[in-house]
Amino acid sequence: MKFFIDSANLEEIRQVAEMGLVDGVTTNPSLLAKEGKGFKTTIQEICAMIDGPVSAEVVTSDNAEQMLKEAHIVAGWHPNVVVKIPFGPEGMKAVKKLTAEGIKTNVTVLFTVTQALIAAKAGATFLSNFVGRVDDLSGEGMVAVRDTVNMVHEYEFASEVLVASVRSPQHIVESVRCGAQIATIPFKILAQMYKHPLTTSGIEKFTEDWNKSGLNFD
Ligand code: E4P
Repeated sequence: MKFFIDSANLEEIRQVAEMGLVDGVTTNPSLLAKEGKGFKTTIQEICAMIDGPVSAEVVTSDNAEQMLKEAHIVAGWHPNVVVKIPFGPEGMKAVKKLTAEGIKTNVTVLFTVTQALIAAKAGATFLSNFVGRVDDLSGEGMVAVRDTVNMVHEYEFASEVLVASVRSPQHIVESVRCGAQIATIPFKILAQMYKHPLTTSGIEKFTEDWNKSGLNFD
């Protein structure tokens, strides 16, 4: 499974780049607004740190022509930029054109397998299925992910399923169980995935026993 980091925070991205485990980055207008730095500068700095797809989102959602204009601007910033397109009829027209031009796309705010099917048929590179926002409303966000993974396999689409709106390590457990190709993970959740009290106590005990033993590496 590929790990993307869901962040526009350059310090977080620098830290995950050092971990060497992160395959790509997703940003969105809300994450960028939180950081308050320039859109282009932030995306280019991220591209300099991570060798993989970096999603930059267009802000128009109801006019394919304008979406294409914005898409060409962000795609010109770096070869690794993937254009993030909000799902909808105009967005899918834009995805179809961008795919024909060889520009990679990440279709975002997907909640159902029928939406994902349309996006896959339009040629989306990544299908961003949001789970946390459904769970927040007492739904089961992973149901659509499971259906979408099966749909992509069944019809042999080239699109990859990207689990987004991740709120806990349990979402990653479930993503693994259903065979999703990618999860985009907030920094805090990635840090939590390293932790287990038995790992901590196990390491402490090994260290303690070693220190008492008088053994060394000679
Ligand atoms: C990533 O591509 C999405 O924009 C992001 O995961 C949404 O997460 P949220 O529901 O926590 O805002």
